[in-house]
Amino acid sequence: MTPTATPARLGVALGARAYDIVIGPGALAGTGREMVAAGLARRAHVVTDSNVAPLHLDRLLAALDAAGIASDSVTVPAGEESKTFDGLQGLLSALLDRRIERRDCVVALGGGVVGDLAGLAAALVLRGVDYVQVPTTLLAQVDSSVGGKTAVDTPHGKNLVGAFYQPRLVVADTDVLDTLPRRELLAGYAETAKYGVLGDAEFFAWLERNGAALVAGDAAARIHAVRRSCEMKAAIVAADERETGDERALLNLGHTFAHAFEAATGFGAALLHGEAVAAGMAMACELSARLGLCPPGDAARVRRHLGAMGLPAGLPPPPPGGWNAETLVRLMGHDKKVEGGRVRFILVRGIGKAFVSRDVPPAIVASLLADAAQAV
Ligand code: GLY
Repeated sequence: MTPTATPARLGVALGARAYDIVIGPGALAGTGREMVAAGLARRAHVVTDSNVAPLHLDRLLAALDAAGIASDSVTVPAGEESKTFDGLQGLLSALLDRRIERRDCVVALGGGVVGDLAGLAAALVLRGVDYVQVPTTLLAQVDSSVGGKTAVDTPHGKNLVGAFYQPRLVVADTDVLDTLPRRELLAGYAETAKYGVLGDAEFFAWLERNGAALVAGDAAARIHAVRRSCEMKAAIVAADERETGDERALLNLGHTFAHAFEAATGFGAALLHGEAVAAGMAMACELSARLGLCPPGDAARVRRHLGAMGLPAGLPPPPPGGWNAETLVRLMGHDKKVEGGRVRFILVRGIGKAFVSRDVPPAIVASLLADAAQAV
Protein backbone atom coordinates (compact mmCIF):
# COMPACT_ATOMS: atom_id res chain seq x y z
CA MET A 1 0.00 0.00 0.00
CA THR A 2 1.52 3.33 -0.99
CA PRO A 3 1.31 6.06 1.64
CA THR A 4 -0.30 9.15 0.28
CA ALA A 5 -0.65 12.73 1.49
CA THR A 6 -3.90 13.12 -0.44
CA PRO A 7 -6.77 14.27 1.77
CA ALA A 8 -9.40 11.59 2.00
CA ARG A 9 -13.18 11.39 2.17
CA LEU A 10 -14.57 8.16 3.53
CA GLY A 11 -18.16 7.11 4.02
CA VAL A 12 -19.68 5.33 7.00
CA ALA A 13 -22.40 3.26 5.31
CA LEU A 14 -25.25 3.32 7.79
CA GLY A 15 -28.24 3.90 5.53
CA ALA A 16 -30.27 6.86 6.78
CA ARG A 17 -27.53 7.54 9.36
CA ALA A 18 -24.65 7.46 6.84
CA TYR A 19 -21.99 10.17 7.09
CA ASP A 20 -18.64 11.25 5.74
CA ILE A 21 -15.24 11.39 7.43
CA VAL A 22 -13.05 14.11 5.91
CA ILE A 23 -9.34 13.61 6.65
CA GLY A 24 -6.42 15.82 5.73
CA PRO A 25 -4.09 18.69 6.59
CA GLY A 26 -6.02 21.92 7.12
CA ALA A 27 -9.40 20.15 6.98
CA LEU A 28 -10.62 22.18 9.97
CA ALA A 29 -10.79 25.31 7.79
CA GLY A 30 -13.31 23.55 5.55
CA THR A 31 -15.63 22.47 8.40
CA GLY A 32 -18.29 25.09 7.63
CA ARG A 33 -18.30 24.25 3.94
CA GLU A 34 -18.62 20.53 4.73
CA MET A 35 -21.47 21.23 7.14
CA VAL A 36 -23.36 23.22 4.53
CA ALA A 37 -22.85 20.38 2.03
CA ALA A 38 -24.17 17.92 4.64
CA GLY A 39 -27.31 20.04 5.18
CA LEU A 40 -26.16 21.37 8.56
CA ALA A 41 -26.32 25.07 7.77
CA ARG A 42 -28.32 26.25 10.82
CA ARG A 43 -26.72 27.53 14.02
CA ALA A 44 -23.72 25.69 15.45
CA HIS A 45 -22.91 25.30 19.15
CA VAL A 46 -19.25 24.40 19.44
CA VAL A 47 -18.30 22.38 22.52
CA THR A 48 -14.62 22.31 23.39
CA ASP A 49 -12.34 22.18 26.41
CA SER A 50 -9.97 24.54 28.17
CA ASN A 51 -6.88 22.97 26.53
CA VAL A 52 -8.20 22.96 22.98
CA ALA A 53 -10.03 26.32 22.98
CA PRO A 54 -6.88 28.51 22.95
CA LEU A 55 -5.37 26.40 20.15
CA HIS A 56 -8.17 25.83 17.65
CA LEU A 57 -11.51 27.42 18.65
CA ASP A 58 -11.07 30.76 16.88
CA ARG A 59 -10.10 29.06 13.63
CA LEU A 60 -13.13 26.80 13.79
CA LEU A 61 -15.50 29.68 14.53
CA ALA A 62 -13.97 31.60 11.60
CA ALA A 63 -14.46 28.56 9.34
CA LEU A 64 -18.13 28.40 10.32
CA ASP A 65 -18.56 32.13 9.83
CA ALA A 66 -16.96 31.94 6.38
CA ALA A 67 -19.61 29.39 5.39
CA GLY A 68 -22.41 31.62 6.73
CA ILE A 69 -23.07 29.49 9.83
CA ALA A 70 -23.82 31.47 13.01
CA SER A 71 -22.16 29.98 16.07
CA ASP A 72 -21.43 30.22 19.76
CA SER A 73 -19.26 28.07 22.01
CA VAL A 74 -19.15 26.30 25.35
CA THR A 75 -15.77 25.50 26.94
CA VAL A 76 -15.70 22.75 29.56
CA PRO A 77 -12.74 22.07 31.87
CA ALA A 78 -10.18 19.77 30.21
CA GLY A 79 -10.00 16.23 31.58
CA GLU A 80 -12.06 13.16 32.36
CA GLU A 81 -13.77 15.02 35.28
CA SER A 82 -16.01 16.76 32.71
CA LYS A 83 -17.35 13.39 31.53
CA THR A 84 -19.72 12.95 34.47
CA PHE A 85 -23.42 13.48 35.19
CA ASP A 86 -22.52 16.89 36.62
CA GLY A 87 -20.50 17.78 33.53
CA LEU A 88 -23.34 16.61 31.29
CA GLN A 89 -25.91 18.62 33.22
CA GLY A 90 -23.69 21.70 33.01
CA LEU A 91 -23.31 21.30 29.27
CA LEU A 92 -27.03 20.72 28.70
CA SER A 93 -27.81 23.86 30.72
CA ALA A 94 -25.26 25.85 28.71
CA LEU A 95 -26.84 24.69 25.43
CA LEU A 96 -30.34 25.54 26.70
CA ASP A 97 -29.08 28.93 27.94
CA ARG A 98 -27.95 29.55 24.37
CA ARG A 99 -31.50 28.73 23.24
CA ILE A 100 -30.48 25.77 21.14
CA GLU A 101 -33.16 24.79 18.63
CA ARG A 102 -34.04 21.42 17.10
CA ARG A 103 -32.39 22.12 13.75
CA ASP A 104 -29.19 23.52 15.30
CA CYS A 105 -26.03 21.47 15.40
CA VAL A 106 -23.56 20.66 18.18
CA VAL A 107 -19.92 20.61 17.05
CA ALA A 108 -17.50 18.67 19.28
CA LEU A 109 -14.00 20.16 19.01
CA GLY A 110 -11.55 18.13 21.07
CA GLY A 111 -10.42 14.68 22.10
CA GLY A 112 -12.34 11.67 23.35
CA VAL A 113 -13.78 13.36 26.45
CA VAL A 114 -15.29 16.26 24.52
CA GLY A 115 -16.53 13.96 21.75
CA ASP A 116 -18.21 11.52 24.14
CA LEU A 117 -19.74 14.26 26.30
CA ALA A 118 -20.91 16.55 23.48
CA GLY A 119 -22.26 13.56 21.53
CA LEU A 120 -24.33 12.45 24.50
CA ALA A 121 -25.56 16.02 25.11
CA ALA A 122 -26.57 16.19 21.43
CA ALA A 123 -28.45 12.89 21.78
CA LEU A 124 -30.39 14.22 24.78
CA VAL A 125 -31.02 17.93 24.32
CA LEU A 126 -34.46 18.62 22.82
CA ARG A 127 -34.59 14.80 22.38
CA GLY A 128 -31.74 14.89 19.89
CA VAL A 129 -30.02 17.41 17.62
CA ASP A 130 -27.41 16.77 14.93
CA TYR A 131 -23.74 16.81 15.84
CA VAL A 132 -20.39 16.98 14.10
CA GLN A 133 -17.10 15.61 15.39
CA VAL A 134 -13.91 17.65 14.89
CA PRO A 135 -11.40 15.41 16.70
CA THR A 136 -8.12 17.02 17.81
CA THR A 137 -6.25 14.02 19.23
CA LEU A 138 -4.88 11.04 17.34
CA LEU A 139 -6.94 8.73 19.56
CA ALA A 140 -10.14 10.60 18.70
CA GLN A 141 -9.25 10.79 14.99
CA VAL A 142 -8.61 7.05 14.61
CA ASP A 143 -11.23 5.75 17.01
CA SER A 144 -13.60 7.62 19.30
CA SER A 145 -14.95 10.25 16.86
CA VAL A 146 -16.22 7.57 14.46
CA GLY A 147 -19.01 5.15 15.27
CA GLY A 148 -21.37 7.07 17.53
CA LYS A 149 -20.41 5.77 20.96
CA THR A 150 -21.24 8.57 23.41
CA ALA A 151 -21.08 8.30 27.21
CA VAL A 152 -20.31 9.68 30.62
CA ASP A 153 -18.54 7.92 33.48
CA THR A 154 -20.33 7.04 36.73
CA PRO A 155 -19.02 5.97 40.14
CA HIS A 156 -19.62 2.39 38.89
CA GLY A 157 -17.10 2.77 36.09
CA LYS A 158 -16.14 4.44 32.83
CA ASN A 159 -18.55 4.92 29.92
CA LEU A 160 -21.37 3.08 31.66
CA VAL A 161 -24.17 5.53 30.72
CA GLY A 162 -24.48 6.67 27.15
CA ALA A 163 -26.05 6.13 23.76
CA PHE A 164 -25.17 4.97 20.28
CA TYR A 165 -25.77 8.25 18.48
CA GLN A 166 -24.01 8.78 15.16
CA PRO A 167 -22.50 12.13 14.17
CA ARG A 168 -23.57 13.67 10.85
CA LEU A 169 -19.97 14.43 9.83
CA VAL A 170 -16.41 13.90 11.09
CA VAL A 171 -13.64 16.36 10.16
CA ALA A 172 -10.15 15.10 11.10
CA ASP A 173 -7.51 17.77 10.47
CA THR A 174 -4.17 16.00 10.70
CA ASP A 175 -2.35 19.35 11.14
CA VAL A 176 -3.87 19.80 14.61
CA LEU A 177 -1.88 16.78 15.78
CA ASP A 178 1.19 19.06 15.68
CA THR A 179 0.05 20.69 18.94
CA LEU A 180 -0.47 17.39 20.74
CA PRO A 181 1.95 16.50 23.57
CA ARG A 182 4.12 13.53 22.55
CA ARG A 183 2.69 11.31 25.28
CA GLU A 184 -0.88 11.91 24.02
CA LEU A 185 0.22 11.26 20.46
CA LEU A 186 1.80 7.95 21.46
CA ALA A 187 -1.31 6.95 23.39
CA GLY A 188 -3.31 7.51 20.21
CA TYR A 189 -0.71 5.59 18.26
CA ALA A 190 -1.54 2.50 20.32
CA GLU A 191 -5.11 2.60 19.00
CA THR A 192 -3.73 3.04 15.48
CA ALA A 193 -1.48 -0.01 15.85
CA LYS A 194 -4.51 -1.89 17.15
CA TYR A 195 -6.07 -1.80 13.66
CA GLY A 196 -3.01 -3.50 12.20
CA VAL A 197 -2.95 -6.18 14.88
CA LEU A 198 -6.67 -6.85 14.69
CA GLY A 199 -7.23 -6.93 10.97
CA ASP A 200 -4.49 -5.75 8.61
CA ALA A 201 -1.02 -7.32 8.79
CA GLU A 202 0.16 -5.16 5.88
CA PHE A 203 -0.82 -2.00 7.79
CA PHE A 204 1.02 -3.30 10.86
CA ALA A 205 4.15 -3.85 8.76
CA TRP A 206 3.73 -0.32 7.35
CA LEU A 207 3.51 1.04 10.91
CA GLU A 208 6.68 -0.86 11.84
CA ARG A 209 8.44 1.00 9.02
CA ASN A 210 6.72 4.39 9.40
CA GLY A 211 5.54 4.69 13.02
CA ALA A 212 8.57 6.69 14.14
CA ALA A 213 8.14 9.17 11.26
CA LEU A 214 4.43 9.48 12.02
CA VAL A 215 5.13 10.39 15.64
CA ALA A 216 7.93 12.76 14.59
CA GLY A 217 5.45 14.72 12.44
CA ASP A 218 5.56 13.25 8.93
CA ALA A 219 2.34 14.62 7.38
CA ALA A 220 1.92 11.91 4.73
CA ALA A 221 2.40 9.17 7.32
CA ARG A 222 -0.18 10.77 9.59
CA ILE A 223 -2.77 11.07 6.85
CA HIS A 224 -2.20 7.51 5.72
CA ALA A 225 -2.48 6.11 9.26
CA VAL A 226 -5.62 8.10 10.15
CA ARG A 227 -7.17 7.20 6.81
CA ARG A 228 -6.48 3.45 7.07
CA SER A 229 -7.67 3.36 10.69
CA CYS A 230 -10.89 5.21 9.79
CA GLU A 231 -11.46 2.93 6.77
CA MET A 232 -11.29 -0.08 9.05
CA LYS A 233 -13.41 1.50 11.75
CA ALA A 234 -16.04 2.65 9.22
CA ALA A 235 -16.32 -0.89 7.80
CA ILE A 236 -16.62 -2.43 11.27
CA VAL A 237 -19.25 0.10 12.41
CA ALA A 238 -21.25 -0.39 9.20
CA ALA A 239 -21.25 -4.15 9.82
CA ASP A 240 -22.11 -4.03 13.54
CA GLU A 241 -23.25 -0.55 14.57
CA ARG A 242 -24.36 -1.42 18.11
CA GLU A 243 -21.83 -4.18 18.91
CA THR A 244 -24.50 -6.86 18.87
CA GLY A 245 -22.29 -9.17 16.80
CA ASP A 246 -18.59 -9.90 17.13
CA GLU A 247 -17.28 -7.42 14.52
CA ARG A 248 -17.28 -4.25 16.63
CA ALA A 249 -16.07 -6.18 19.66
CA LEU A 250 -12.76 -6.68 17.82
CA LEU A 251 -12.09 -2.97 18.42
CA ASN A 252 -11.74 -3.94 22.07
CA LEU A 253 -8.49 -5.81 21.38
CA GLY A 254 -6.33 -5.30 24.47
CA HIS A 255 -9.15 -3.53 26.34
CA THR A 256 -10.03 -6.30 28.82
CA PHE A 257 -6.48 -6.17 30.20
CA ALA A 258 -6.37 -2.38 29.73
CA HIS A 259 -9.50 -1.92 31.83
CA ALA A 260 -7.88 -3.79 34.73
CA PHE A 261 -4.63 -1.81 34.41
CA GLU A 262 -6.54 1.49 34.36
CA ALA A 263 -8.76 0.50 37.29
CA ALA A 264 -5.72 -0.56 39.33
CA THR A 265 -3.97 2.75 38.63
CA GLY A 266 -7.07 4.90 39.25
CA PHE A 267 -8.08 5.83 35.68
CA GLY A 268 -5.81 8.87 35.83
CA ALA A 269 -2.73 10.48 34.37
CA ALA A 270 -0.52 7.71 35.78
CA LEU A 271 -1.64 5.54 32.86
CA LEU A 272 -3.37 7.00 29.81
CA HIS A 273 -6.04 4.89 28.11
CA GLY A 274 -3.91 4.37 24.99
CA GLU A 275 -0.92 3.32 27.09
CA ALA A 276 -3.13 0.78 28.85
CA VAL A 277 -4.37 -0.44 25.45
CA ALA A 278 -0.78 -0.94 24.23
CA ALA A 279 0.02 -2.99 27.34
CA GLY A 280 -3.26 -4.88 27.01
CA MET A 281 -2.68 -5.63 23.34
CA ALA A 282 0.77 -7.04 24.11
CA MET A 283 -0.78 -9.21 26.85
CA ALA A 284 -3.64 -10.36 24.60
CA CYS A 285 -1.11 -11.45 21.94
CA GLU A 286 0.98 -13.20 24.60
CA LEU A 287 -2.14 -14.94 25.93
CA SER A 288 -2.99 -16.07 22.40
CA ALA A 289 0.53 -17.49 22.03
CA ARG A 290 0.31 -19.31 25.38
CA LEU A 291 -2.98 -20.84 24.30
CA GLY A 292 -1.21 -22.15 21.19
CA LEU A 293 -3.37 -19.99 18.94
CA CYS A 294 -0.82 -17.46 17.71
CA PRO A 295 2.78 -17.97 16.53
CA PRO A 296 5.03 -16.74 19.40
CA GLY A 297 7.01 -14.78 16.80
CA ASP A 298 3.94 -12.63 16.02
CA ALA A 299 3.34 -11.87 19.71
CA ALA A 300 7.02 -10.94 20.06
CA ARG A 301 6.77 -8.68 17.00
CA VAL A 302 3.84 -6.76 18.49
CA ARG A 303 5.72 -6.33 21.78
CA ARG A 304 8.86 -5.25 19.93
CA HIS A 305 7.07 -2.59 17.90
CA LEU A 306 5.13 -1.15 20.83
CA GLY A 307 8.31 -1.08 22.92
CA ALA A 308 10.28 0.55 20.10
CA MET A 309 7.64 3.29 19.92
CA GLY A 310 8.02 3.97 23.64
CA LEU A 311 4.72 2.34 24.64
CA PRO A 312 4.27 -0.30 27.36
CA ALA A 313 4.77 -3.74 25.80
CA GLY A 314 3.98 -5.84 28.87
CA LEU A 315 2.63 -4.80 32.25
CA PRO A 316 2.68 -0.99 32.49
CA PRO A 317 4.57 0.82 35.26
CA PRO A 318 3.09 -0.53 38.52
CA PRO A 319 0.87 1.35 40.96
CA PRO A 320 2.19 1.89 44.52
CA GLY A 321 2.37 -1.58 46.06
CA GLY A 322 3.09 -3.23 42.70
CA TRP A 323 0.99 -5.43 40.42
CA ASN A 324 -1.06 -8.23 41.87
CA ALA A 325 -2.28 -10.87 39.42
CA GLU A 326 -5.34 -11.81 41.51
CA THR A 327 -6.45 -8.19 41.77
CA LEU A 328 -6.10 -7.75 38.01
CA VAL A 329 -8.16 -10.89 37.28
CA ARG A 330 -10.83 -9.65 39.68
CA LEU A 331 -10.88 -6.22 38.02
CA MET A 332 -11.32 -7.86 34.60
CA GLY A 333 -14.51 -9.42 35.96
CA HIS A 334 -15.89 -5.91 36.58
CA ASP A 335 -15.50 -4.80 32.99
CA LYS A 336 -18.61 -4.11 30.91
CA LYS A 337 -17.32 -6.64 28.39
CA VAL A 338 -18.30 -9.46 30.74
CA GLU A 339 -21.09 -11.62 29.26
CA GLY A 340 -23.12 -13.98 31.46
CA GLY A 341 -20.38 -13.78 34.07
CA ARG A 342 -17.65 -14.78 31.56
CA VAL A 343 -14.88 -12.42 30.63
CA ARG A 344 -14.69 -11.82 26.89
CA PHE A 345 -11.21 -11.63 25.37
CA ILE A 346 -10.15 -10.58 21.91
CA LEU A 347 -7.40 -12.99 20.87
CA VAL A 348 -5.32 -13.29 17.70
CA ARG A 349 -4.36 -16.18 15.42
CA GLY A 350 -1.49 -13.98 14.23
CA ILE A 351 -0.98 -10.32 13.36
CA GLY A 352 -4.10 -9.14 11.51
CA LYS A 353 -6.26 -12.08 12.62
CA ALA A 354 -8.28 -11.16 15.73
CA PHE A 355 -11.31 -13.04 16.99
CA VAL A 356 -13.58 -13.06 20.05
CA SER A 357 -13.14 -15.76 22.68
CA ARG A 358 -15.48 -16.40 25.58
CA ASP A 359 -13.80 -19.48 26.99
CA VAL A 360 -10.32 -18.48 28.06
CA PRO A 361 -9.48 -20.43 31.25
CA PRO A 362 -9.09 -17.85 34.06
CA ALA A 363 -6.13 -19.84 35.45
CA ILE A 364 -4.11 -19.20 32.27
CA VAL A 365 -4.82 -15.47 32.47
CA ALA A 366 -3.81 -15.49 36.14
CA SER A 367 -0.53 -17.30 35.44
CA LEU A 368 0.26 -15.00 32.50
CA LEU A 369 -0.25 -11.95 34.74
CA ALA A 370 1.69 -13.51 37.62
CA ASP A 371 4.65 -14.21 35.31
CA ALA A 372 4.47 -10.70 33.90
CA ALA A 373 4.27 -9.19 37.42
CA GLN A 374 7.44 -11.11 38.36
CA ALA A 375 9.20 -9.70 35.34
CA VAL A 376 8.41 -6.02 36.18
N1 GLY B 1 -13.82 2.40 20.63
C1 GLY B 1 -14.48 1.18 20.37
C2 GLY B 1 -15.69 1.32 19.53
O1 GLY B 1 -15.93 2.39 19.01
O2 GLY B 1 -16.42 0.39 19.36
